[in-house]
Amino acid sequence: MVQTEEMSQLQQQALIDINEAANEKELQDVKVKYLGKKGSVSGLMKHMKDLPNEEKPQYGQQVNEVRQAIETEIESRQELLAKEQLEQQLATEKIDVTLPSRKMAIGAKHPLTRTIEEIEDLFLGLGYEIVDGYEVEQDYYNFEALNLPKSHPARDMQDSFYITEEILMRTHTSPVQARTMEKRNGKAPVKIICPGKVYRRDSDDATHSHQFTQIEGLVVDENIKMSDLKGTLELLAKSLFGDEREIRLRPSYFPFTEPSVEVDISCFKCKGKGCNVCKHTGWIEILGSGMVHPNVLEKAGYDSTKYTGFAFGMGPDRIAMLKYGIEDIRHFYTNDVRFLNQFKAVEDRGEQ
Ligand code: PHE
Repeated sequence: MVQTEEMSQLQQQALIDINEAANEKELQDVKVKYLGKKGSVSGLMKHMKDLPNEEKPQYGQQVNEVRQAIETEIESRQELLAKEQLEQQLATEKIDVTLPSRKMAIGAKHPLTRTIEEIEDLFLGLGYEIVDGYEVEQDYYNFEALNLPKSHPARDMQDSFYITEEILMRTHTSPVQARTMEKRNGKAPVKIICPGKVYRRDSDDATHSHQFTQIEGLVVDENIKMSDLKGTLELLAKSLFGDEREIRLRPSYFPFTEPSVEVDISCFKCKGKGCNVCKHTGWIEILGSGMVHPNVLEKAGYDSTKYTGFAFGMGPDRIAMLKYGIEDIRHFYTNDVRFLNQFKAVEDRGEQ
């Protein structure tokens, strides 16, 4: 049996409609019209019941062929439409890569970061490792392991922000030396610097901030002497403030070092004659240091009859203030872009 007239007309019309569908939505409508439950192809099936039984299978087969032809045509139209749409999209969304871009505002490296990196570079060159620590610290590492037991009056030197009785914001980077020694478990040498933020209960003014930065240094090995400390700090002073700088050690007190010294550098502004930077003394105090107290070594598991060490702690805030002539420590933390942008000029000149 050949296709009925009705079938071939329906198929032809369907192919025309499919190819006239201008987009996917219209094509969908055509699909529903012909292939949907109430569509024309289903309509053809309804004639089946009027046919003699022997013709039914063939009729059904032909309706299926019509359905298949329509489905195939819809699929290929669908592909074509999708391709056209993509091409159109690519054509309209073309970008001109030769157009000049919008200028990005480029900042400058924060003066504290510059200072910390400068100090890190020096010590990395001397074979030190950089070690990180916790800003929220246990009382044990911040004080006790550093020879500052609970009732020790020297705790008053560092007014602290306590979170609980046993946990506080670290008041210095020294807990990193205690932790590192403990971790190394009596092994030498230890040669580290630890830069980081520290916190003290202080009222903020031009030279005090409740948050500031420190860099701690620690060396532990056999035969480490005070002269090693002095040589290291001399190198540091010259590298930060110029080759002509000299250092002066003044006796001082820290619970974790013995002997302890305060270190001054000869004034880089007046070369020692006396000026406002050095408060007319010719010397500027830059850091605290000393030989690691035997109690600190022992607490961390080092045999203090075999090993000695030195430690020093400096404030990059103070060093940056001196280096760049910054009068107020608060500038570092308020992030006024006018302040920060001034360091672009330093960068452009390729200076440290
Ligand atoms: N931790 C001391 C302070 O913050 C500085 C210091 C470090 C002194 C190491 C001596 C040795 O005041």
